[in-house]
Amino acid sequence: MCGIVGYVGKRDCTKVLIDALSKLEYRGYDSAGIAVFENGGISVAKTKGRLRDLCEKMKKTHIPSGHSGIGHTRWATHGEPNDVNSHPHAGGKVTIVHNGIIENYKALKDFLVSKGRHFQSETDTEVVAQLLDYYYCGNPIECIQKTLSEIQGSFALGIIFADRPDVVYAVRRESPLIVGLGKDENFIASDVTAILQYTRDYYLLEHDEIAVLGMDGVKVFDSHGSEIKKERKTADWDVDAAEKQGYEHFMLKEIHEQPTAVKTTITPRISDGLPDLSECGITVEKLRSFNQIFIVACGTAMHAGLVGKYIIEELARVPVVVDIASEFRYRNPLVGVGDLVIIISQSGETADSLAALRLAKSLGASTLGIVNAKGSSIARESDMLIYTHAGPEIAVASTKAYMVQLSVMYLFAFELALAKEKIDEAECRRLIGLLRQTPDLIASILESADACQKISSQLINADHLLYIGRGLDYALSMEGSLKLKEISYIHSESYAAGELKHGTISLITNGMPVIAVATQTKLLEKTVSNIKEVKARGAKTIVVCQQGMEIDPSAVDFKIEIPKFEDIIMPMPAVVPLQLIAYYTSVLRGNDVDKPRNLAKSVTVE
Ligand code: AGP
Repeated sequence: MCGIVGYVGKRDCTKVLIDALSKLEYRGYDSAGIAVFENGGISVAKTKGRLRDLCEKMKKTHIPSGHSGIGHTRWATHGEPNDVNSHPHAGGKVTIVHNGIIENYKALKDFLVSKGRHFQSETDTEVVAQLLDYYYCGNPIECIQKTLSEIQGSFALGIIFADRPDVVYAVRRESPLIVGLGKDENFIASDVTAILQYTRDYYLLEHDEIAVLGMDGVKVFDSHGSEIKKERKTADWDVDAAEKQGYEHFMLKEIHEQPTAVKTTITPRISDGLPDLSECGITVEKLRSFNQIFIVACGTAMHAGLVGKYIIEELARVPVVVDIASEFRYRNPLVGVGDLVIIISQSGETADSLAALRLAKSLGASTLGIVNAKGSSIARESDMLIYTHAGPEIAVASTKAYMVQLSVMYLFAFELALAKEKIDEAECRRLIGLLRQTPDLIASILESADACQKISSQLINADHLLYIGRGLDYALSMEGSLKLKEISYIHSESYAAGELKHGTISLITNGMPVIAVATQTKLLEKTVSNIKEVKARGAKTIVVCQQGMEIDPSAVDFKIEIPKFEDIIMPMPAVVPLQLIAYYTSVLRGNDVDKPRNLAKSVTVE
């Protein structure tokens, strides 16, 4: 989704803004722009396309030169991606950049038109710029407050006033925005990775707080206009974490970071060989009190929840419902006191997941956030919180965040099973012992990269393919299919292997690739029958299984073997070849792996 940056300081503002925006490219965008204070005025440069298009355009026309300004990457919502709809937008003395959606923009626009105002763009953002200007009588804070009282929706805004040179104003409601604190320079950004190379210190803005950034400092005002003292935070992510470090793509780097990410996530939550989530607000008493669990999330995070369902139900015998957040929030769910609602999110800002969290709380359920981004909205609003320590995930296609979400699902399931007395301490220690071995197991699978690349070369010309599996393997095949779709643009579906005969098998044509995930010993025979069924109808079969599993070789065209291990742990190593296959297929098709078309990393609007 849109990315916002702002700068006040002594450096070349255009350079800082472009550099910071480049760190937000991963969020997904289709146009970009900046506004810089220059020679007593404001110079705006904006264009449809990528940042490189913006830089080209500036080179040909004019490169704004100054020491303060705002910048934006836009992911179109209101109005197609074109030069006019790109941000920044101006209204009289006011120029702004905006992330989010103004829900009542139509009514506000009608009002402004009735007052004689003219609009250039189709955006909701221009309405805010014009409204700010309409209320501006020389006092920026007052006019921002008045505007805040009238606009509805989710937004983060970077604002500059033509008659307040070298001052940047910022405010947010629902959408993320941080204020970076440097020496003689200050920043705003949609997330901290944008400014890590300048500073690691920042303020988190609460809803409707207004930040005023000058070169010599930052003042923050509450929604009543009183100045408030903010707590200075320091990011524990370093610059390197947000760089490619020699890998061709962030996605490949992030796939390789998985062993470390798992270790960093689980180690602090294991004490004396047992899971210990007490630091996250999770106690044995609380765990015992839950009758029913809901896991609510979107996309890949929801797929991690599906694995969670299998293992929680298997080990702790507590019923688990997994829900897509955008469905949960509108289906009047049967959730209430005594239930636990787990929200999984890498970004912690996904609009539907955040809304689901708030709904669950309003219905009286206890809530647990499993979140990667520190200080994000879901992290702040959850009753209990487990941070996954994956570090920044830049590639739009989530890999390491999924892996650490799985590792937390295991820790949680083990602790819950112990609290519910469904397993004893010895068994719990044994399971933790297995989990501790997963970083090495994942590392060993990374060595299968060449085999995955070969398989990808067989897929690049496919129009469609199927992923099949049973039980945990089915949950995993859903993630494999999503990964392939989002970055290779090949249509794929994931099916419960036993369901094929009920309709889907009619899709199989000669040479159609079918990726079968078959790591579960108990289900192997059944899954192999399904593999044979598709093979007999001409499918090209690719099987991911455990070493030593007996599968009729005539049913298999390609095989990737995971070192033999316990079935329940299999999703962690077995997802790696699926990630690598998606990655290499995308590379071989010449796609933009880290920034696939139409997608945004952080989906902060519905
Ligand atoms: C995964 O590869 C996706 N790009 C997407 O499905 C993502 O997992 C989903 O949008 C949820 O995001 P979140 O974890 O930040 O809430």
